[in-house]
Amino acid sequence: MTKFKLKNGVSEEEIFTSLNSLKSGDINWKDGKTFGAVYYPGDKYASVISKAYNLFMHENAFDPQLFKSLLTMENEIVRQIGNLFKAEKEVYGNLTSGGTESIFLSLLSAREWSLKNRSISNPEVILSTTAHPAFLKAMKFLKIKPVVIPATKCFNLDIDKFSSAINDNTILLVGSAPAYPYGMIDPISHLSEIAIKNNLLLHVDACIGGFLLSYLKKLDYNIPSFDFSLEGVTSISVDLHKYAYAPKGSSVLLYKNAELRKSQFSVYSNWEGGIYASTSFMGTKPGGIVASSWTALNHIGEDGYLELTKKTMNATSLIKDFILNNQDLSLIGEPQMSLIAFKSDTIDIYQLADKLNDLGWYIGRLQNPSGIHLVVSQIHADGAAKQFVIDLEVIINQLKKKNIRNGVGKIMDKGAAKILNLMPFNKLRQTLVKAAGKDQQIPHKKRIIYNIKEELDLDDSNELFRSIMDGFYS
Ligand SMILES: Cc1ncc(COP(=O)(O)O)c(C=O)c1O
Repeated sequence: MTKFKLKNGVSEEEIFTSLNSLKSGDINWKDGKTFGAVYYPGDKYASVISKAYNLFMHENAFDPQLFKSLLTMENEIVRQIGNLFKAEKEVYGNLTSGGTESIFLSLLSAREWSLKNRSISNPEVILSTTAHPAFLKAMKFLKIKPVVIPATKCFNLDIDKFSSAINDNTILLVGSAPAYPYGMIDPISHLSEIAIKNNLLLHVDACIGGFLLSYLKKLDYNIPSFDFSLEGVTSISVDLHKYAYAPKGSSVLLYKNAELRKSQFSVYSNWEGGIYASTSFMGTKPGGIVASSWTALNHIGEDGYLELTKKTMNATSLIKDFILNNQDLSLIGEPQMSLIAFKSDTIDIYQLADKLNDLGWYIGRLQNPSGIHLVVSQIHADGAAKQFVIDLEVIINQLKKKNIRNGVGKIMDKGAAKILNLMPFNKLRQTLVKAAGKDQQIPHKKRIIYNIKEELDLDDSNELFRSIMDGFYS
């Protein structure tokens, strides 16, 4: 890293030399190397969206009376997404910083609303093991008890167990459309019936896929209802920084009624600094993100999104068909959109994942069962999906060769994990934190980490990953 003399500031030229040099070591996401984390609509749309961001970069959307422009745009975004999700007359919502914040606020409002209207002071929320960890994270902050129901053998939300788990403290049911791990839509219409019958709130986490699912419906895909067309659905979260291709930091949380939304507002009317009120978790709220999200929705437009959706699904089909026709791989569950989960009974799936990393691909890893996870989007349609299946085939053939190298490799993996697991926990932690921070060996040998983790109890394993994270930021 360049050592700058900070006293006089650094010239634009030097700054960009440094930034470009830092960036040159990053993954090549523009070529579609990332299956998740990055959603890009292509240079043409992106340049317009960036211009809108720059135009409002210094404005603050915190105070609705300060920048009328931002208020108008936020309200329009909420209405547009409400229309997409079949909100009948009125819809109530706000722009938030991302899926995690939308989820946090949906739980906060459920807690506050249920305390006020149902006098529940020890709230419980029922969710499936496949729901996103943002729910558990938020419930820890909010002191809500999570009641986590294991998914069925077919990887679905277990509707019978959900029903049986309801008690007098239950405030909210959570369903996902779709859930991240297997890309399957939970039975939201069933959940809606149960919520109505038991006078409960129902949140639909449509963060990753809700936007795309709405467009798949327009393209006549067979997508079950998951939105406000179901009477029991009381709130929906949908991220614009995913398939709506807005810049990072953009999500919408929608409510069926105003009372619920008001329950998420923070108001301190007696504060010495003046009357304080904010709609979301954020105080200062970036104007750039409001303007660029509004621009993404209105500049890409319905025709643009239909086109991007078709491209996404073409790329998804290409990869899905390869998996379905490959004797060593099989899909996990039944993906309903562009999230793909697959496993293998013949080769070590984590070894395959590491080899994909070696070739520059960023993919996700699943547990119980072990698998690989892909979030496919339009960026994969222009060659990346094709290249990915070529690389998959080459790696599978390499891994299947019963040669000395593969044999020794496997023994070494197992041996390394065994030796490391023999260490006292503190030593193990120290060794792994050092290895993770020192070079790139850990990311390319994540399978060893997964093997080690299997032998640890949950507390130790959480402590290990907390320390590894800590090491990255030191
Ligand atoms: C289903 C689902 N919900 C919530 C989130 C959290 O979103 P964010 O990372 O924007 O906080 C994700 C992220 O991938 C997700 O897939």
